[in-house]
Formats: sequence, C-alpha cells, structure tokens
Amino acid sequence: VAFAGCLVVSRASRNSTGPIGVFDSGVGGLTVLRALRSALPSEEFIYLGDTARLPYGTKSAQSVVRYSLQCAEALIARGIRCLVVACNTASASALDALCSRYRDIPIIGVIEPGAAAAVSASHSKHIAVIGTEGTIGGGAYQTAIRRLNPDVRVTARACSLFVAMAEEGWVEGPIAEAVARRYLEPIFSAADGDGVPDTLVLGCTHFPALIAPIRAVLPERVHIVDSAASVAAAVSSELAVPGHRRGRGEVRWLATDGAARFARVSGTFLGEALRADQIEIIDL
Ligand code: DGL
Repeated sequence: VAFAGCLVVSRASRNSTGPIGVFDSGVGGLTVLRALRSALPSEEFIYLGDTARLPYGTKSAQSVVRYSLQCAEALIARGIRCLVVACNTASASALDALCSRYRDIPIIGVIEPGAAAAVSASHSKHIAVIGTEGTIGGGAYQTAIRRLNPDVRVTARACSLFVAMAEEGWVEGPIAEAVARRYLEPIFSAADGDGVPDTLVLGCTHFPALIAPIRAVLPERVHIVDSAASVAAAVSSELAVPGHRRGRGEVRWLATDGAARFARVSGTFLGEALRADQIEIIDL
C-alpha cells in the first residue's frame, strides 16, 4: 500500500512505545482490530467505539469531523503511538482534519488500502463500492480508486440499513439476504454478466459481519474486498521500529454508551466474547 493515511512523522522522531489507538462509530471497527491483532499479536491496543453517536454514516461531514477529532483526542490523551481510523465514514470526511491537527503520530485510514486492494483485484476494471451515505455521497472511494487508475469504472451505492442490521446482530438468514439482494441485485443483475463489476469493496467496517448474505446474493466470480487486512499490513509496515518494546497483545475497551450492548454485539465482529465489565464508558 503506497499511502494509507498521513504519515508525516519522521520514523526517527516517532514514539515507539504506547498502544495503537483504533476508533469507529461502534462495533464495526472491531473487524479492523481483529486483523490488526492477528498481524501484530504482541502489540497493545485501545479500541474506542463512539456508540453514543452511532451511526456516523447518516450525519453531515461537519459532525463526523467534530466527532472524529474528539475520538482522536481521547485516544491521544491515553498515550497512543499510532491512530487507526477504523471507520470509512470518518476516514472519508475527517482524515485531513485529523492529520493537520495531530502531526506527531502516524494516522492511518481505511479508504486508501481498500481502494488499492480493489484496483489490484479487478481484471475488468469495473469496481462496485458499498458504504454509508456519507462515504458514498462524499465520493471518497471513487476519488481514491481513480487516483490509482483513472480507467477504472466505479459503481457506488449507499447501503445504510446494513449498519443497523450488523449492530442488531442480524447477519444471516432470510431478512439479511432479502436486504442484501435489494441493495446489490441492481448492480450485479445484467443477464449475461457483461458490464457488471467483478469486484465489490465493503466500504464500511460494519459490512464484513454481513459477508454470508452478501456472498449469497452475488455472482460467484465477484471478488469481495474487505480493507481490514490491507490496513493491518499498512500499520505493520509503518510501525516496524527496531527495538520496540513489545506488549502482551492486550486491548483496552472504551465506548461512549451501552457497555452491555457493546459486549453482546462485539462477538460477531471480533470472534471472541467480551463481558460488559471489560468495557469502560467514557465521555468525549
Ligand atoms: N463503520 C462505519 C464505516 O466504516 C460507519 C457506520 C456508521 O456509523 O454509520 O463507515
């Protein structure tokens, strides 16, 4: 990945201790945290889910910038050495603001890695992107993909209901499939398969939870891109600081509302169960 966010800090001047901070509007960013933990098993993390203000995807860009700066502030105050914006909506609207406010830590978003993975996966050079209203409406993926290859055609669609379904744990079965069909069929329905995209980017960190119904309604040959693994690779290469004191792979869990709900829903995204008493509720 050539560029994953803003990495304005010189390697020499970087703080090489402290956890990696990760934030999302809710539990969606746990799909990114999961990939980060598997790529960097001995790093320590602080995860913040801004559950009090979820969803970000239907809010204005100004609100998302304000919320994102507050999330970053809370994590930086807790001593992080790198910030991962594990939310496409926040990456789309707030990455520039975050980078100009916080110049002394690397900040990595999810859009550029997802766009790069999609461009290298697509042979037909027609890519579909699904995300929240904010991500799709702001054109962040369209811009990032065309910056990498101006010949690629992008078909983008907001799938706002997917966020609520993922947060509700409705990630499989007939309702999930019916919603997935309603959103995706118009994009992939050409009878002969001609002119339809060969790659689908899950441009929202909540969407990997819905991989089963999404897969079920897509033509088999469509390649699905989830940027989590590409983000983890970008973070590992940025943080390869010789002599870094390794931690024990622990995560500190923060949310802005609803510890019990966060714990209940997190299993789907994280692959492990959390208890409500592990989650600290903070005010931003
Ligand atoms: N998970 C977030 C994203 O990647 C957004 C979900 C939301 O808060 O709308 O876009």
